[in-house]
Amino acid sequence: MPIKLPITRYYGSKRKLINQIWEEIEKLEIDFESVLDVFGGSAVFSYFAKKKEKTVYYNDIFKFNYLIGKLLIQENKNELTYEEAVALLKPKANKIYRSTIETHFDEIYFTKQENQTIDIFVQNIQDLSSENKKLSAFYLLFQSCIIKRPYNLFHRNNLSMRQNFTSGNFGNKKTWERSFEELFIRFIDELNNVTFENNKNNLAFNYPALNCPVTADLVYIDPPYLKKSGTNTSYHSKYHFLEGLAWYDEIFENINFSKKNNEIQIGKSIEFENINNFVSDLKQLLLIHSNSVIVLSYRNNGFPSIEDLVNLMKDCKPGMKIHTIDLGQYGYALNKDNGSNREFLIIGTNTLEN
Ligand SMILES: C[S@@+](CC[C@H](N)C(=O)[O-])C[C@H]1O[C@@H](n2cnc3c(N)ncnc32)[C@H](O)[C@@H]1O
Repeated sequence: MPIKLPITRYYGSKRKLINQIWEEIEKLEIDFESVLDVFGGSAVFSYFAKKKEKTVYYNDIFKFNYLIGKLLIQENKNELTYEEAVALLKPKANKIYRSTIETHFDEIYFTKQENQTIDIFVQNIQDLSSENKKLSAFYLLFQSCIIKRPYNLFHRNNLSMRQNFTSGNFGNKKTWERSFEELFIRFIDELNNVTFENNKNNLAFNYPALNCPVTADLVYIDPPYLKKSGTNTSYHSKYHFLEGLAWYDEIFENINFSKKNNEIQIGKSIEFENINNFVSDLKQLLLIHSNSVIVLSYRNNGFPSIEDLVNLMKDCKPGMKIHTIDLGQYGYALNKDNGSNREFLIIGTNTLEN
């Protein structure tokens, strides 16, 4: 039976490749009981590993991702009902609400009414006593906010693009305009279907990769992809708004008003996001996990090159294998590179014969 995965629209998600990635890992024929997904993102690798009955450690630098990871990986069920979720969209009598999003993000990402709803919803989440319900409510909020955005991102203040979009059959327009109530139906249903228990002590963490104090038998490294040109939009700038919502009470003092999109500075870091430090960051990470099997995902045509990554892995691990995902080929495929985009797995093991 194919494993059903949560449907996220997260930039760089390995959802479409995870079956192939896992197949390659299984072909290594190594015994491993635990995995660390150190750049966890949408948690798709962690989720797959959880389904495969591993003990899973999810990690991501952003709290909003950590909350998603915690729900899908560390928790085993969804306790929030659709009715409870919808009730959180409405102001409660006698509660005084702040209007941080309505006031400071007018005409930037969402409509005025949507901004009001977001303000109310987050502050109602804060009052929930159940940790599980809080996580589920945040999950609904983050997924709905992502799905309502053109390109599913927050690096541009392009609400007008969504509103002025008129030309015919652009299916997303319909989704952008769906209400939170309507989107919640789908995401609650998804949560009820995908949450499960695998009887392991799975944990979620929220550290910069180089400070993550956890390791595992197998460490999956799927860092941000950097373009050679150096014109990179960081994960922080793509998702700062969601990170802000995860730290709602601290948004105001962290808004950079000099940016057109009022970027929220919380969680901003250059670790693995800067072309000048990427290689030394990666080397440090490989050395931290020198006792583990390491599976590194990266695309060609970026910085560093696959060849440089292979050499780095060889420097840090006795055994090394490379696999191109889309072509399903073993071997050192660099010579066949014809400029097309391919995903590579560079696997470092602790034994030469691997
Ligand atoms: C390529 S994405 C990972 C995608 C993930 N494998 C998936 O399938 O959704 C890279 C992730 O690294 C996170 N990240 C960026 N810098 C980080 C750092 N220094 N430490 C930990 N996570 C970081 C980003 O938030 C992003 O979620």
